[in-house]
Amino acid sequence: MDLLIVGSGFFGLTIAERAAAAGRKVTVIDRRHHIGGNAYSEDEPETGIEVHRYGAHLFHTSNATVWEYVNRFTAFTDYVHRVYTNHKGVVYPLPINLGTINQFFQAAHSPAEAKALVQELAGEFDAKNAANLEEKGIALIGRPLYEAFIRDYTAKQWQTDPKDLPAEVISRLPVRYNYDNRYFNDTWEGLPVDGYTAWLERMADHANIDVRLSTDFFDESQPFNKQATVGQLPIVYTGPVDRYFDYAEGELSWRTLDFEEEVVPVGDYQGTSVMNYADADVPYTRVHEFRHFHPERAERYPTDKTVIMREFSRFATREDEPYYPVNTPQDRTGLLAYRELAKGEQGVHFGGRLGTYQYLDMHMAIGSALSMWNNDLSA
Ligand code: FAD
Ligand code: NA
Repeated sequence: MDLLIVGSGFFGLTIAERAAAAGRKVTVIDRRHHIGGNAYSEDEPETGIEVHRYGAHLFHTSNATVWEYVNRFTAFTDYVHRVYTNHKGVVYPLPINLGTINQFFQAAHSPAEAKALVQELAGEFDAKNAANLEEKGIALIGRPLYEAFIRDYTAKQWQTDPKDLPAEVISRLPVRYNYDNRYFNDTWEGLPVDGYTAWLERMADHANIDVRLSTDFFDESQPFNKQATVGQLPIVYTGPVDRYFDYAEGELSWRTLDFEEEVVPVGDYQGTSVMNYADADVPYTRVHEFRHFHPERAERYPTDKTVIMREFSRFATREDEPYYPVNTPQDRTGLLAYRELAKGEQGVHFGGRLGTYQYLDMHMAIGSALSMWNNDLSA
């Protein structure tokens, strides 16, 4: 074995694939029973509908190198992501656009009129002096749109009143003064034709790659543990950086999600893949309906059943899956201290969203793994 990789998410598998192609012998361990990290998906057994186990994953990128690379392992459908939101029992398109504004104000404003209206409403606060997230939100889009579409949704995401959240949590609230409600602005977008797991398995499918599942780096009863391997060979570590150092500089904080899955006896539950719930009286933030990610599978999917998943958001404990970095000032100080410790850890390369404590989209995790391979590991 020439290289040990801890974690089989997109970051770890990209390194593994590049190293194997260059003739290195690689072992990839993952503490979960499956490969793929948070991008893992599987068919719901009763319906055969592909479910993204750790929340809906939409692939999109404007990075030509990454796009060329991922297409070696999978073809992509022409799926285009769009999100709607339910506010007081009325459905509006997101991100906030001219359609949302005109529906909300029961008007037929032109782009210029809508822009003038939002600017006038936003005059209540100055974004630069906003004391908290609420003032910042109002300063960016005005009170009516903020209260309808941002306030309660944000409170549910953070389980905190936005008046008590720092203004920096939002840097901008994009408003589109046309009817374009395409969610992503990237050059390429789509879903893997035969699913995420087939894609991830193809990346790992090489004689030089040995994958060991249900294998925890910190479990000293298995041979690929930290104690036995650090200093013996190069290691790419994509688990939580604070856990690696036994929380010596404190715990970095994360939000997690809880998912409630249900098979509903109708062919179509909500008519679209993601419906947000903007108001406080609905406890979940959104509902995913997985069949709508793959309209091209209509022939294969049942017409009398559908799979939905309600999503709830909360702060993570050590036992929960870490999903989104909270990034408090204390977290940022802790991260700097961990980066210093990481520099001193000879032969261990920290990568991926957990190893660097940052939210990374899939294309970013893949792009940053390709850079690590080229710059630090390929020589
Ligand atoms: P991960 O996928 O988290 O992989 C890390 C792996 O390390 C895990 O499998 C874990 O089990 C393993 N590990 C941790 N500790 C140990 C240990 N001690 N021993 C062994 N193994 C260990 N990206 C998009 O581009 N589009 C989206 O729509 C999108 N939606 C998302 C929705 C949610 C809810 C979340 C959380 C993420 C989403 N992402 C999305 C991001 C995407 O999941 C990440 O980019 C991707 O998972 C990053 O890969 P990674 O390899 O860095 O981390
Ligand atoms: Na979102």
